[in-house]
Amino acid sequence: MFDVALRELASVATEIEGQLSLEFVHVVEHAAVAAARTMGQGDRKAADYAAVEAMRAAFDDVPISAEIVIGEGERDEAPMLFIGEQVGAHQGYLDPDIDIAVDPLEGTNLCATGAPNAIAVLAASERGGLLHAPDCYMEKIMAGPSCRGALDIDASVKDNLHAIARCLDRHIQDLVVIVLDRPRHQTLIDEIRAAGARIRLIGDGDLTAGITAAVRGAGVHAVMGIGGAPEGVLAAAALRCLHGEMVARLVVNTPELRERAESMGVRDPDRIYRADDLAPGHKIVFAACGVTGGALLEGVRFFGEGYRTHSIVMTRASNKVRFIDAVHLTGDPGPQGIRLN
Ligand code: FBP
Repeated sequence: MFDVALRELASVATEIEGQLSLEFVHVVEHAAVAAARTMGQGDRKAADYAAVEAMRAAFDDVPISAEIVIGEGERDEAPMLFIGEQVGAHQGYLDPDIDIAVDPLEGTNLCATGAPNAIAVLAASERGGLLHAPDCYMEKIMAGPSCRGALDIDASVKDNLHAIARCLDRHIQDLVVIVLDRPRHQTLIDEIRAAGARIRLIGDGDLTAGITAAVRGAGVHAVMGIGGAPEGVLAAAALRCLHGEMVARLVVNTPELRERAESMGVRDPDRIYRADDLAPGHKIVFAACGVTGGALLEGVRFFGEGYRTHSIVMTRASNKVRFIDAVHLTGDPGPQGIRLN
């Protein structure tokens, strides 16, 4: 009897892209709503903490036993959602059979200042389906499906832009490239300008930027530069669902980082990764909910008797991209009925 129950529970990994994907939406919605309550308060740490706490609590309702492989840091520096933490309603009863990467609030500054494109995000896969990347920087180039196989991280900026323009059947001058606005990117920015492409500088959020570059009609054609490695793995999970292209390399430039990378199983710190290497999973779910409104998702809107969220959930093997626009009632809507804003 107990065996049967265990077998039933153990089959959840195979359902990761099915019913569970909606449970994951619930988790990111929870984090997004908590973070959105802090929007514009100027306190990025409080915003992040609210998102982390809410996401952690929401995992308790999901019928899985999973391990955080990309999270808020090590156990000693993060009280919740730390790397190695087990989450899910079945933790402790079953060995974890799902790996999870989380960023409860991608764009802490964006939320703290009320700027667009802050999201709550997670990716889930069967065990081993997401690279256990150290919390360091990563060089990245991300683009859409038509650029598959055309990007080369060791080629010049100009050559990569020519390749992207060719794949998109347009002139280099027609391209829009997103770059994080950082002093470290000055040479990159100069080279993109010299090549003739247009640039959109962003304050934060190269993960959302990567997703927009992989969909047609968003008016963005590539993302270039150095951002966080954890965000790189999450972007790779999203790009695998969108059939997008990514080339990346960890920035492991100190003995401490080399040691850290090695301890996380990275044998060659200079390795060039593609999306398939960063998120090699067969089954992948990527879920994100808008905190502040942006290019991809609306932000959380609160009203008297509830709130409204906007999420995206994508699955790799079953090839689905779903947008979920949800009204959550917290009270009786009264005789006037449900308000949408
Ligand atoms: P946070 O949400 O942790 O603030 O990260 C936002 C972000 O802009 C990421 O999108 C990006 O990958 C990374 O920070 C870049 O790091 P840095 O701010 O150190 O340049």
